[in-house]
Amino acid sequence: MSELSVNHLLGIKNLQREDIELIFKTADNFKRIINQPIKKVPTLRDITIANLFFENSTRTKLSFELAEKRLSADVINFSSSSSSVKKGETLVDTVNNILAMKVDMVVIRHPNPGAAEFLSRNVKATIVNAGDGAHEHPTQALLDSFSIRERLSQVKGKKVVIIGDVLHSRVALSNIHCLQKLGAEVAVCGPSTLIPKFINSLGVHHYSDLKKALNWCDVANVLRIQLERQDVNYFPSLREYSMVYGVNKEILDSLEKEIVVMHPGPINRGVELSSDLADSDFAIILDQVENGVAIRMAVMYLLAGKLKK
Ligand code: CP
Repeated sequence: MSELSVNHLLGIKNLQREDIELIFKTADNFKRIINQPIKKVPTLRDITIANLFFENSTRTKLSFELAEKRLSADVINFSSSSSSVKKGETLVDTVNNILAMKVDMVVIRHPNPGAAEFLSRNVKATIVNAGDGAHEHPTQALLDSFSIRERLSQVKGKKVVIIGDVLHSRVALSNIHCLQKLGAEVAVCGPSTLIPKFINSLGVHHYSDLKKALNWCDVANVLRIQLERQDVNYFPSLREYSMVYGVNKEILDSLEKEIVVMHPGPINRGVELSSDLADSDFAIILDQVENGVAIRMAVMYLLAGKLKK
């Protein structure tokens, strides 16, 4: 396979295994390039990309912007808090006005599930989903699986447990799709109030006991408790959540084997993950961030290749 089967990156669900492998192979090359003294290539110098963030972001926003600049694209950034969206303009009107300035590709983060897909059907530009509500965060899942492949040689056959607030997590859903397409076994672990009812229909096992889940897995991907998306109390208190489901160095040292610990960020230190573990050699959290740039370069390079046809 030399090109993607899709014209937009809306979610992992729409991708084939071969698409993911092509993105990884391309990201391998970009990772080599961005670790050289000259980190930039002229590949997208005739492409203009708009980053539209309707929700807060540190990693994803900066990672996309850096990836675009490393590819020599022209970049414009839009943040809803300082825009005319506040004056009542619709999403499609906002984007069409930006596209009128000759923009080719739109990277969008939005609180509403389906926002990226909606745009892909209603505007004339390549759309990259940078996270839509609790639905999908495809580049996060790609960089997560890429980081597992880097640390453990391959994803196929590995056991990965996703721990915590699965209910409100776009990272969890995209990771489940990505890991399963690559041949990994996936489980989730957390209080039943934070696990969606449909989880079994995805072929994912639910552990309610943290230590059993950690003893089963090769990789633990620990999620943040998304208080900003919680309209009711899903557990008695953060302190009690942390006592039962907080992952720390002590519990990892008590396991029968060594495992890899991941976190998509931002971390709530001392809630879902202890500081000593987050900063230990078990954790590959900053490798994930580093790999995010290469993965996003690969995605935009491959999608831009389809634009020119
Ligand atoms: N992992 C992630 O999406 O982080 P940000 O919200 O900071 O972009």
